[in-house]
Amino acid sequence: MRVGVFDSGVGGLSVVKSLLEHKLFEEIIYFGDTARVPYGVKDQNTIIRYSLEALEFFKNFEIDLLITACNTVSAYALDEMREHSHCDVIGVVDPGVLALKNAIPSNDANILILGTKATVKSGAYEKGLRSLGYRNLSAIATSLLVPIVEEGLYEGEVLQSALHHYFRDLEKTPDAIILGCTHFPLVARAIDTYFEGKSTLIHSGEAIVEYLESHYDFTKRFDTTNLKFFASENPEGLRRVAKEWLAL
Ligand code: SIN
Repeated sequence: MRVGVFDSGVGGLSVVKSLLEHKLFEEIIYFGDTARVPYGVKDQNTIIRYSLEALEFFKNFEIDLLITACNTVSAYALDEMREHSHCDVIGVVDPGVLALKNAIPSNDANILILGTKATVKSGAYEKGLRSLGYRNLSAIATSLLVPIVEEGLYEGEVLQSALHHYFRDLEKTPDAIILGCTHFPLVARAIDTYFEGKSTLIHSGEAIVEYLESHYDFTKRFDTTNLKFFASENPEGLRRVAKEWLAL
C-alpha cells in the first residue's frame, strides 16, 4: 500500500515516524508546504485553497490513501479534499478523538486540547469529544510551540517559558492532553515532565496508526519503506529534518 502524507511543513514527519515504526506502507510520499507554513494562523478559505493545491500535487503519484497529518487542515479542509480526491483522505482529528476514548474511557476525565489558533477556533476536537459524552474540556492555542519546534528547541529555557506561559493558570492537572498539532509530539517529553507524568498524552501519529489498523487490512508489513520527500520551499531543509527526526 502506498500513502501520501500532507502537512503544512515539517511537523507531519512526527506522523511518518509512527507509520515507519509500525511498518505499514511500502511507500510514503511526503509533501510539506514549507513555503506557506504555518497554516494555523490562516483563515478557513486560505487553508482550504492550500489543501486543494496540495491534493493536486498528490495526483501526480499513485497513492492508495492520503493522510493529512496537519491538524489545522484536518479541522477545516477534509470534506473539500475528500470531494476532490481519487483516494481515501484521512485526517488526524477523528483518530485523535478515538485514541483518547481508548486511553481514557471515563466521560468525567478532565481533557486539555492543545492546537494552533485555527484548530482551537474550529472546535473540531471538542465536537468529536462531546459527541462521545466528554464534558470537562478546555483548549489552549499554544501557537508559540510551532516556531519553537521549527527552531529545534525541544528542551531548555525558551520552551520552559512557553509552557509556563500557557499552563500557569490551569487549576487542575489534566487527565489527558491532546497534542492537536503535528509539531507538539516533538516537545511531548517536556510537556509530560511539566505535568509530572500525571497526564496521558495523545499523539496524532500513534492515533493514526491505531485508526488505520482498525479500519484497513494490514496483513502485510514492510521492513523497508520507500520514502520520497517534497516541499514547496527548501526541500533540502525538509530532508535534513527528516534525517534527524526519523534517524535515516
Ligand atoms: C501549522 O501549520 O500551523 C501547524 C500544523 C498543525 O496544525 O498540525
